[in-house]
Amino acid sequence: MPVPLVIDTDTAQDDCVAILTGLLDSAADLKAITMVAGNVGFDQQVRNAFLTMSVAGELGTVPVYLGARQPILRPWVSAENVHGDGVGGLAIDMSGLAPETEHAVDALIRIAAENAGELCIVAIGPLTNIALAAAKDREFVHNVKALYVMGGSNNGRGNITAAAEFNFYVDPEAAKAVLAAGFTTVIVPWDRLTLRDAVFDQAHLDEIAAIGTPIADFFTTIVAATLDFDRSVGIDGSTHPDSLTVAVLLHPELITASAPYHVDVETGSDLTRGYSAMSWGVHGLAPNAKVIEAVDADAFFRHIKALVAHPTVPSRPIRRPTA
Ligand code: BDR
Ligand code: CA
Repeated sequence: MPVPLVIDTDTAQDDCVAILTGLLDSAADLKAITMVAGNVGFDQQVRNAFLTMSVAGELGTVPVYLGARQPILRPWVSAENVHGDGVGGLAIDMSGLAPETEHAVDALIRIAAENAGELCIVAIGPLTNIALAAAKDREFVHNVKALYVMGGSNNGRGNITAAAEFNFYVDPEAAKAVLAAGFTTVIVPWDRLTLRDAVFDQAHLDEIAAIGTPIADFFTTIVAATLDFDRSVGIDGSTHPDSLTVAVLLHPELITASAPYHVDVETGSDLTRGYSAMSWGVHGLAPNAKVIEAVDADAFFRHIKALVAHPTVPSRPIRRPTA
């Protein structure tokens, strides 16, 4: 049976690949896309989500709900320096396309109740929507079968600061609240996992570009801006933490090491804002999450190659930026 899921996203670059997985992988039953403030301008993120659905030939098949336009307490922090607009300037004609009118937080609560005990949520942006849903309806936590989170680092490097990974940095209060809320939580961290097992180097990217499908062309364009940034900070390839998060939900056989941890997030310090303290079981703290420690990197790349090889017919023509 396909896994019923919602993807909560700040749609740019690898978020798009995660959405493509939710749309095209036969192991997924994607119920909704919910938008949260994160990577790039909120309305650009919404356009990116519709563009991604269009590339998959799936425009109109999955509803998009708009959620929090800023973190719970703090001003929004952008990653536009990393991602540009998040899609390499690609666009579609948006006429007639509109998100749902129901707020994403209410949609999350409703869809979880309609699929109680079955629904998985993949949260690949700041955790603002998830924290608000858990605060608004305490049944939400129990109705969600499992919450898969891309966020934090496992006692390793951050990316937006030395201490913090972007999603937890942007809304640390939300991340802290979600980790304390009682969800069955699985975490895909940035360091070491993503940096070791979910970086596609130039040879990988050349293999994908050679596939030549509309999705392969889309993939190649959208990772380009981030690739430049990654190389400028010493990462030899494009990073795919968000699509890995969906992949380990749908294909748990990709996971080669995981362990229970107690995970908490720093909210009091300016220096280490958003730092994820991941305690591995020797500090007397009860586990609140399973942290993925390693995946089969080759198998993950093969999974992405199979995804981009889907011979889709885009729902609307893709416009490229004019030089
Ligand atoms: C995370 O931050 C965002 O820039 C990416 O989409 C990913 O979810 C990595 O730190
Ligand atoms: Ca993201």
